[in-house]
Amino acid sequence: MNLPPVIAIDGPTASGKGTVASLVAEKLGFHYLDSGALYRLVALGSQKAAIDPKNGLELGILAKNLVISFKNGQILLNSENVTEAIRAESIGLRASAIAVHPEVRQALVGVQHGFRVFPGLVADGRDMASVIFPDAALKVFLTATAKARAERRYKQLIAKGIPAKLEYLLQDLQERDARDSSRGTAPLLLADGAKLLDTSELSVDQAVKTVLDWYQSKVASF
Ligand code: DC
Repeated sequence: MNLPPVIAIDGPTASGKGTVASLVAEKLGFHYLDSGALYRLVALGSQKAAIDPKNGLELGILAKNLVISFKNGQILLNSENVTEAIRAESIGLRASAIAVHPEVRQALVGVQHGFRVFPGLVADGRDMASVIFPDAALKVFLTATAKARAERRYKQLIAKGIPAKLEYLLQDLQERDARDSSRGTAPLLLADGAKLLDTSELSVDQAVKTVLDWYQSKVASF
């Protein structure tokens, strides 16, 4: 059976992987999965339900029963529009904390596989290449220095009129990097066969072009 092709793009917080992945999907006419949004939805849902971020069992049950829908760029949780709410820094930190539980990760596997639809999928996250789509046609590990990532996040927040402090953002990033990379289940890592793309000195267009070129040469070699 021929499965739709997948481009897996993994990387740390604020590496720009979401921007690059969604543009690559648009160029190829592929579907797009922002897997981090799923962990953020569990984080928000668990906050509303007052579940302790350490309680893997209850979090897993919650994750299995969340009613999630993605429509026209909007994200609904139990029919409430939470597109903006899940982007809060506090929800990002909580997402990183609840993502350490195998029960939560297991509950989200089927949802993620459901995005693999023709003509193809671009999926971004931490374990797209290693766990969720190990047969991806192209695996990219997209990163940038912590300083470059903190500066990008700072500019985004300021542009939105949200007050921010560069040193706190850098500290938060380093805390999340450490947790996402050191957890026992599905840690953030350079998967076997993944290509490394450091975007510290690249524009978004250059990063997108690099991924598209890599994909074209993969496809040509099949
Ligand atoms: O990509 P993001 O910042 O939206 O992800 C939020 C958190 O979710 C991240 O700190 C770790 C977790 N996550 C994960 O464990 N596995 C994924 N595939 C995606 C995100």
